[in-house]
Amino acid sequence: MRVLITGSRGLVGYHVIQALLQRQAAIFSTSRGEAPLSGIWHRSLDLTDQAAVHELIRAIRPTVVIHSAAMALVDACQENPPLCWHHNVNATRYLLEALVENAPEAHFIFVSTDFVYDGFPAVERPYVEGDYEAPLSVYGASKLAAEAWVRTYPGTWTIVRTALVYGWAPTLSRDNVFLRVINRLSRGEVLELFTDQVRTPTWAMDLAEGLVLIAVERAQGLYHVAGGEVETPYSFGQKVARLWGLPTTLLRPITARDFQPPAPRPPYSPLSIEKARSLGYRPHSTEEALQKLRQVV
Ligand SMILES: NC(=O)c1ccc[n+]([C@@H]2O[C@H](COP(=O)([O-])OP(=O)(O)OC[C@H]3O[C@@H](n4cnc5c(N)ncnc54)[C@H](OP(=O)(O)O)[C@@H]3O)[C@@H](O)[C@H]2O)c1
Repeated sequence: MRVLITGSRGLVGYHVIQALLQRQAAIFSTSRGEAPLSGIWHRSLDLTDQAAVHELIRAIRPTVVIHSAAMALVDACQENPPLCWHHNVNATRYLLEALVENAPEAHFIFVSTDFVYDGFPAVERPYVEGDYEAPLSVYGASKLAAEAWVRTYPGTWTIVRTALVYGWAPTLSRDNVFLRVINRLSRGEVLELFTDQVRTPTWAMDLAEGLVLIAVERAQGLYHVAGGEVETPYSFGQKVARLWGLPTTLLRPITARDFQPPAPRPPYSPLSIEKARSLGYRPHSTEEALQKLRQVV
C-alpha cells in the first residue's frame, strides 16, 4: 500500500502513522506544519491550495488516502463558516478531484464525526450507520457536506464517523478532554465538564487501527469507528482523574443550562460499532486504553 495521510500532525493522523509503521506500507504524510516524525516522507502544504493538492497526488500516486485533516475546532467553525467550509469541504473536494485525474484506483477514507447527528434519536440507542443525519453546528454540516462529495467519488471510498477522540501526541496544536483533565487538575485548577453530552469516547490508537484495518480490507461505505463504552465528558474525566491520582473534586459537573458554547452540540450521540466489529475492529475498554496512556503521559 502507498498510503497518504493528511493531517499527520493531528491527534488522529499521528496515530495512523504509528499504526502504519507496524505494517508493510509506504507512508506519505502531509500537514501544514513540519514532519511529525523524522525519517518519513512528508510534505508541508495547505490543502486549500488546489494546485498544491494536484501536484501532491501526481507526485505520490497513492493507493490509499486517509483524509484526517480538518478544521476540527467546533466553535471556531461556528464563528467562521466560510473558512470552515473551505478547509473541510473544498479541501476534500480538491483531494477527490486530484485522485480522479491522477490516481483513480486509490481508496479514499474520510474521517468524519458523530456531530452529523442532531443527538435527538427517535429511540434512545447508539446511532447506527444509515440513521437520520441533521447536524446542529456549522462543523457538523461541513463534515456532512464533505461526506456528500466523498460519495460522488467514482473510485472506492469509506466514510468513518468517530467521536470524542482522546490521547496524546508530541505534535498536537490543540488539547482533548483527556489532556485537559490531566493538565488542569495537576495545576490544581477546576475543570467544568458536561454531564448532558452522551458520547462513545475513542482512543486515538484504536481509531487509527480501525482506519488501517479498513484500508487493508478495502472495506467500503459508511462505518462508525469509536470506543465501545458510553460516557459523558464528566464521567470520562472522573475515570482519567482517578487513574492519574488527581482530585476528582476539581471536576465540576455542568449542563447546557449552565453554559452554552458558540456551537450547539448533540446531547446524545453514542455510535454503535457493531458493523466495524464485524470487520475485526476491537477497541480497548476505556480502562485498558487509559492504562496504556498512563505508560506514556
Ligand atoms: N478529535 C475529535 O474528537 C474528533 C471527533 C470526531 C471526528 N474527528 C475528525 O477527525 C479528524 C482528525 O481530527 P484531529 O482531532 O486529529 O484534529 P487535529 O488534532 O486538530 O489535527 C488536524 C490536522 O489537520 C491539519 N490541517 C487542518 N487544516 C488543514 C489544511 N487546510 N491543510 C492541511 N492540513 C490541515 C493540521 O495540520 P497542522 O497541525 O500542521 O496545522 C492537523 O495536522 C478530523 O477530520 C475531525 O473532523 C475528530
